[in-house]
This record gives sequence, structure tokens and C-alpha cells, in this order.
Amino acid sequence: MKKPIVILGPMESESALLIQSLGQRQARAVGSFTFHEGMIGGYPVVVCRTYIGVVNSAAAAALAIQRYAPLCVIIQGTSGAHDPALHQGDLVLGDHLVHLGRFFTPHRDRGEGTDAFAWEPQGSEIVAVNAGGFTEVLHSDRRIIDIAARTPYPRGRVKRGTIGAADIWNRELDMIAHLHRTLGTDCEEMEGFGVAQVCAGFGVPMADIRIISNSEWHEQEEFNEKYGADCQMFVLEVVKRLIAEQTLM
Ligand code: 5AD
Repeated sequence: MKKPIVILGPMESESALLIQSLGQRQARAVGSFTFHEGMIGGYPVVVCRTYIGVVNSAAAAALAIQRYAPLCVIIQGTSGAHDPALHQGDLVLGDHLVHLGRFFTPHRDRGEGTDAFAWEPQGSEIVAVNAGGFTEVLHSDRRIIDIAARTPYPRGRVKRGTIGAADIWNRELDMIAHLHRTLGTDCEEMEGFGVAQVCAGFGVPMADIRIISNSEWHEQEEFNEKYGADCQMFVLEVVKRLIAEQTLM
């Protein structure tokens, strides 16, 4: 039995095209998720819309891993730029993945207000990676990212970099600049680290591939869901190459 490739996309606009690309498609409901099983290039692929957020996507990843023991898990979709040099349509390949929602705040007295710039990032407890300690950065599998970096993409720049995730949509430029400077984030979204954390726990290779759909740095670059389609088309090409080149197999 071949181990399937699992592809996750949070929104309809980030998963429908991939689902339509599956040959011999069959839908399997598991709780609130639907796993669409099918074939691409003669190889089994499972696509799941995770719905938005770290918890949703982590749950979908865990269920997919238990059910399919996949070759790898790819999470993909839209993101907001932290690097001012990135524009709508550019891609970020997540060599490094960080959590943007785990902080330890220094004490402040009643009436002293809040200072998010003083918050200290915290690592995550991932026993399989660091038993007894905390992990601050996770990584997409280099073999998948190398293939993605070699896959032609005519619609924009492709940057290998750092993707941050949390259940937050930051629009304050001072905060975006702070995260970019202190954590090195190129873009932010709401799933990547959670999926990476689950995959690390099970020893399953994963990759986070994102398209910039919005940037606070540039007027007029407001969220547009059409970029979800561009990202899916790119990821489809990457998956075809993974299969053709028998990467990870
Ligand atoms: N901040 C957070 N999430 C974003 N997304 C796109 N742009 C951003 C942004 N600037 C993605 C998330 C989530 C959905 C709302 O869109 O990953 O799935």
C-alpha cells in the first residue's frame, strides 16, 4: 500500500481546486472534516479543508495521520506579509515555522496598561522533538521545500523563509514590524505551526507553502481570496513533482 500525500487548505478558496483535481475521488467524513481521497499522477492523495485556525488544522492533521499514515502533509493557503518587500502573489516556502500566539508577559500593576512589545515568545512542548524542554522553531521538510523552490512560478517572487501562525490577524504595522524583526517572520497565517507541531509529534514530514494575499505595508493590497487558487495550482505542481521524482518514497 502506497502512503498517500495529504494536502490541507483552511478555506473553500484554498482547497476546492485541489479537491477537483483528484481522480477517482471519494469523500469520507470524519467528525466535522471531510477527507477527499483520490489520485494524482497515479499516486494516492488526500485533500481536506481544515477550516480556519490552529486548533482546526492541528485536529485535521492528527486525524489524517492516524487514518492514512501519510508520506507527508502539506499545509498551504493565503497569508499576510510581514516582509515589506513581499507583495500579493509572492510565495513563501516555510523553511522555518514559528508560533505567534505563545507569549509570557512581564508583570504590570493594575493601571499600568499593556505593552505587547515586551512580551517574551515561549516555546511549545513537543515531546518527540525535545522531551522535557520547549521548541521555538519547527521546519518544513527540506526535500519538499527544495522541490517547491525548483518548481516554476511565473506569478511572483518565491522566498524561502519563516512563516508565523496564531489565531490572530495582525494589522498594526508596528506589531508586524516587531514580529518581522524579533522572530524573522516573512508572513503570517493561522495554521502552519499547529500542523507542524502535530506532524513533528508523529514523525511525519510536512511542508507549509503560502501565498501572500494581503500586505498592510502596501495600500491596495487587501485580502483577496483569488490568491488561494494560485497557491493551490502551485502546490499541485509541487505534488506532481514529488510523485514523479519519488521524493520521500
Ligand atoms: N493574518 C492571519 N491569517 C491570514 N490568512 C490570510 N492572511 C492572513 C493574515 N494577514 C489566512 C489564515 C486563515 C485565513 C483567515 O486566511 O491562514 O486560514
